[in-house]
Amino acid sequence: MVTQGSKSPAMEHDKGCRQLPQASAKMTNKGASRCLTGPKIVLMVVGIIGLLIVVVAVPIIVSDLKKDNNSNCAPNGLQWNTTGITVLSSSQLTHISGLYIDSNDTLYTVDEYSNGVVWKVPKNTLTPILVAGILQSAGSNASQFNYPQDVYVDSQSNVYVTDLNNNRVQKFVNQSTTGQTIAGISGSSGVALNQFNGLRYFTFDPTETYMYITDYNNHRIMRYLTNATTGDSGTLVAGGGNGAGNNNNQLNSPWGIYYLPSVSNYMYITNYDGNTLMRWIPGASSGELIAGIPNLTGSSSSLLSNPMGVKIDIYQNVFVVDRNNNRVQMFCPNSSIGITIAGNVVSGSAATQLNGPRGIAFDSSMNMYITDYSNYRIQKFNKL
Ligand SMILES: *[C@@H]1O[C@H](CO)[C@@H](O)[C@H](O)[C@H]1NC(C)=O
Ligand SMILES: *[C@@H]1O[C@H](CO)[C@@H](O)[C@H](O)[C@H]1NC(C)=O
Ligand SMILES: *[C@@H]1O[C@H](CO)[C@@H](O)[C@H](O)[C@H]1NC(C)=O
Ligand SMILES: *[C@@H]1O[C@H](CO)[C@@H](O)[C@H](O)[C@H]1NC(C)=O
Ligand SMILES: *[C@@H]1O[C@H](CO)[C@@H](O)[C@H](O)[C@H]1NC(C)=O
Ligand SMILES: *[C@@H]1O[C@H](CO)[C@@H](O)[C@H](O)[C@H]1NC(C)=O
Ligand SMILES: *[C@@H]1O[C@H](CO)[C@@H](O)[C@H](O)[C@H]1NC(C)=O
Repeated sequence: MVTQGSKSPAMEHDKGCRQLPQASAKMTNKGASRCLTGPKIVLMVVGIIGLLIVVVAVPIIVSDLKKDNNSNCAPNGLQWNTTGITVLSSSQLTHISGLYIDSNDTLYTVDEYSNGVVWKVPKNTLTPILVAGILQSAGSNASQFNYPQDVYVDSQSNVYVTDLNNNRVQKFVNQSTTGQTIAGISGSSGVALNQFNGLRYFTFDPTETYMYITDYNNHRIMRYLTNATTGDSGTLVAGGGNGAGNNNNQLNSPWGIYYLPSVSNYMYITNYDGNTLMRWIPGASSGELIAGIPNLTGSSSSLLSNPMGVKIDIYQNVFVVDRNNNRVQMFCPNSSIGITIAGNVVSGSAATQLNGPRGIAFDSSMNMYITDYSNYRIQKFNKL
């Protein structure tokens, strides 16, 4: 008798009993001990599914949990040795600020004062080579700087430098030691679109068409063409016109900036006086707070204290030099809780310490380099 929901013997035969001897209706029950009946097939299927869950799904779930547990972030995924190695030291440097590493792992750093120059350190070497500026001669002529802040070197080896107290960006073409002013008016600070009022760090888009500059005292981000030959007007891309502040349409003494559009549409910006990290789509009327509590300084994992350099990696982790906390904080994507990956709040000159750090850069192996301003040294933290 075939009842609704059960399988006919013909179906059983087709599915599981093809190898069994011809069975009469009478033999069917006896044969069932060697043959698969409907309930047994269900049990077997359930068993196989159960086994599949254990063998296939569980490891996937576990590995997903591991992913959620920061497999591409600190502390369980990415790690750096917290003991730094001194690459350049006080016998070679004075107060160094911005840092740039090119695709050949050549390191460039800006020696703000009293040296007032840009150094280059080819990979695996320990002797800095002067590439721009006149040693111990601050000034405003085409070969000099006055408190240079940051450096970038393009694919044609042209060197760009933000020259704070001259309120200009200098470009050195083809190994020349004579710079051209390509943005700003040398010696004139102001709020016009062809002027700066205290420019700090900058970042270049991957095609090197534009540079994005933190205009510190104008509380804005300006964009300029890198092929400019005179200080033409730039384009306002964030902040500006709304004064200093911590609202989403304001910046508060922006210092560090990094823009990597292949990974994120946002520019990441540190607000030195606001004690925050923001992100902002170039040209948008407002940005978003990512980390830090406006106007509050402290050393807890949710606070920043006068942040400076900033970088993001391909996983959208954000790295912030938390200057007054003498540490480097890593923020996993969508997290406002910082994980300390270098330094430890208390300033000092031990290998695990920093003293007023400023700039940050990574080489092609993701080893991290920090300009340790008040220790007059560059520290390298190896990726583990
Ligand atoms: C970290 O760096 C220090 C100093 O170079 C070294 O002695 C130590 O073995 C390194 N630790 C790891 C885990 O690589
Ligand atoms: C800039 O001034 C320095 C110091 O006076 C001088 O040695 C140098 O030749 C000058 N360079 C240019 C391009 O005027
Ligand atoms: C990197 O090194 C290669 C080979 O020496 C050279 O051709 C290239 O210009 C260098 N790239 C940069 C950015 O300096
Ligand atoms: C840089 O130098 C090369 C070789 O001397 C020359 O061909 C090129 O035109 C120069 N570029 C600029 C922008 O001056
Ligand atoms: C500078 O670059 C822009 C954008 O790529 C381009 O439109 C312009 O023609 C370039 N100017 C010069 C002088 O090469
Ligand atoms: C931050 O501090 C400044 C100066 O003390 C004050 O004017 C401003 O209202 C404060 N902003 C916030 C959001 O607390
Ligand atoms: C961050 O959160 C948003 C939604 O809140 C999500 O769409 C995005 O994928 C997250 N980013 C990362 C890298 O986890």
